[in-house]
Parts: sequence; C-alpha cells; structure tokens
Amino acid sequence: TKPILEQCYNLMDFESVARKVMKKTAWAYYSSGADDEITMRENHSAYHKIWFRPRVLEDVSKIDFSTSMLGTKVDIPFYITATALGKLGHPEGEVVLTRAARKHNVIQMIPTLASCSFDELCDAREGDQVQWLQLYVNSKRDITKKIVQHAEKRGCKGLFITVDAPQLGRREKDMRSKFSDVGSNVQSSGGDQVDRSQGAARAISSFIDPALSWKDIPWFQSITKMPIILKGVQRVEDVIRAIESGVQGVVLSNHGGRQLDFARSGIEVLSEVMPVLRERGWEDRIEIYVDGGIRRATDIIKALCLGAKGVGIGRPFLFAMSAYGLPGVDRAMQLLKDEMEMNMRLIGCSSVSQLNPTLVDSRALNVH
Ligand code: FNR
Repeated sequence: TKPILEQCYNLMDFESVARKVMKKTAWAYYSSGADDEITMRENHSAYHKIWFRPRVLEDVSKIDFSTSMLGTKVDIPFYITATALGKLGHPEGEVVLTRAARKHNVIQMIPTLASCSFDELCDAREGDQVQWLQLYVNSKRDITKKIVQHAEKRGCKGLFITVDAPQLGRREKDMRSKFSDVGSNVQSSGGDQVDRSQGAARAISSFIDPALSWKDIPWFQSITKMPIILKGVQRVEDVIRAIESGVQGVVLSNHGGRQLDFARSGIEVLSEVMPVLRERGWEDRIEIYVDGGIRRATDIIKALCLGAKGVGIGRPFLFAMSAYGLPGVDRAMQLLKDEMEMNMRLIGCSSVSQLNPTLVDSRALNVH
C-alpha cells in the first residue's frame, strides 16, 4: 500500500512511491536516461562533490530566498522545467503543475510535447502567473513560427529552445516497455505521422529538425520579442557564442541524462563557465540556468553560489504528481522551501544576493 503523503520527507521519497504505483510504461518513460544512464546518475552525484564553507555570526533571523528570473519575481530560485507527456503520470496532466506553480509562485516551462494543449495550460494560469515555452523546432518552420507567435500572444515570458536534441537519445528502458498509445497523449506535435516502434520518446520526436543551427537564431529574434534561452548548452565556447548571438540566457543541461550519455552535469559545466565569463566581465550579459539532478535545496544553493540565476527541476514534480496529484507537488515544493530556509540560515546567508563562490569548495568537480 501507498504511504500517506506526510510520510514523504524529501524529493527522493516521491520517486520511490511513484515507482510502486505508476504504470510500468509511464515509469519507464519518466525515469529513463540514455544508454547506460551514466550521465543521469552523475547529474545528482556531481552535487555530492561540492562542500560548503559556511559563514558564522551573521544575522540570519530573517531569510528571504526570493529572486528574479528573466525579470519575473519568484519565491524560490527554481522553475518547473519542461517534461513531456504529463498525462502518463496523472489523468489531468500538466495543469496539475500549473496549479502548484501558482500556489508557490514559481514559473512553469510548458513543453512543446505537453499532454494538455498549450491553450489549456495558459487558461489554467491565474493572476500574474508566469509561464515559459519550451520549443522543439519543427523542420516546417511555418509551424514553429505559429507556435512561437501564439505563445507570445498568450503571454509567455520566455522562449526556451531545446538545442541538445537534434535526435532523441536511446532510452532503452522506455524502448523495452514498447509504447503503443503515445499518440493519444500528445496534443501539439503538429499532427505528423510518427514511428511508434521504438518507445515513447522516439515516437513523438520525428518532427524535430536536425538542421537547426546558430544561423537560425536571428530568425527567432525576428519573429518574437520574448527573451530567447538556449536549453541544453554544455560547453564554455557555446555560452560565449550564445552571448555573441544576443540571446538572453542558456540552460546548462544534458536533458536529465536522456540525450548524450557521458555529457557532463550542468553544475560541472557551470563551474567551468563562470570563471571565464568573470574574466571577460561578461557575467551580467546573460542569465545562466542549470538543470539535472537537483533534489535538495542544498543543490539549489550550490548552483547559485557558483553563479546560476536559478535551476530547473523536472522528474521530482512528475513523480510527486503521479503518486499524489496536486497535494504531492504542493508538498514537494513546500519541502524545498523548508529546506531552503534552514540551509540558507546554516550557511550564514539571509538572501540569495549573498550567495557567492567563496561559500563552496568545488575543487572536486572537474576531476574524473
Ligand atoms: C524531459 N526533458 C525535456 N526537455 C525538453 O527540452 N523537452 C522535453 O519535451 C522534455 N521532456 C522530458 C520528459 C521527461 C520525462 C523528463 C524526465 C525530462 C528534460 C527536462 O527539461 C530537464 O532537462 C531534466 O528533466 C532535468 O533533470 P531532472 O530534474 O529531471 O533530473
């Protein structure tokens, strides 16, 4: 039997419950990584290589960990990143995440391949709630243009172009579970015929354009005023190129270990990127986000110390939603807020503006 929600004390707990209660095929799609899943494992364990150098005797009676991302004020420095096929985990799909995001004043990134329609997710917004759009670029650019301009019209505040998936990775767990009904779970892939023989991921991705290149960036800038963020950047050289292309942000990410196996963790890439930007005096020219393996508030704090503006969290909210619906996601976010308050206090910082590289010892990163 399923433990009661109050028995989930951290984000990992939702994963073990979800594993027991979810349909096998759905579990396989959410939990899988590419190939041997080395990158997926490293995403979280990379955070274990970073240790704190806390300050003492600072006044930490009041803690404020709110911040802003792309100009939007948020309660806590994470956003819900895009994860496709929400209805595999919960009959209502991604609207559950929209509601939890509202309650906790965090931003939701809407996936191109959401189970709910894009408009449904926009309609579920309340007040000044903010959403972003994650974009898979269709080789038929008129379809892409329509999606982007519609998103802007509906008030999306950021365009996250996924750049680490010219082809979807091989997720063997997912392939083995032999998906047959993915078509009914996707609303917005543009209606193209799909190949369903190789698991959910590959089935829904056949429209993605592998010819997408740096040359296309000016075109995106010409069709939208939304800030553009490249999701899935993995090396310093490409961060520099992103800055030179005039985009507003990058997400240092390996797609949750679902694409290139042996891609490095976002946090490790971050530790390499920031010193180079600081040396050039470029650290304010772009907002840097990190995702992959973030499960604890200490992970969030470490990323911010090393220079991230915020972090994306994916699977934990999917698992919380699948196991317990909205109350599960609500609790997952509240747990992160509670952990955040305590750990900010324990490292001697009362606001995120005080987080800086001297508060961590990250020498063990980039050693393999
Ligand atoms: C993803 N991710 C993803 N990314 C993207 O750009 N478009 C997408 O459609 C999806 N879909 C998707 C589905 C599922 C089930 C997962 C787990 C992930 C990647 C996602 O945005 C993010 O990079 C990682 O999920 C972050 O890692 P964690 O937090 O899941 O460890």
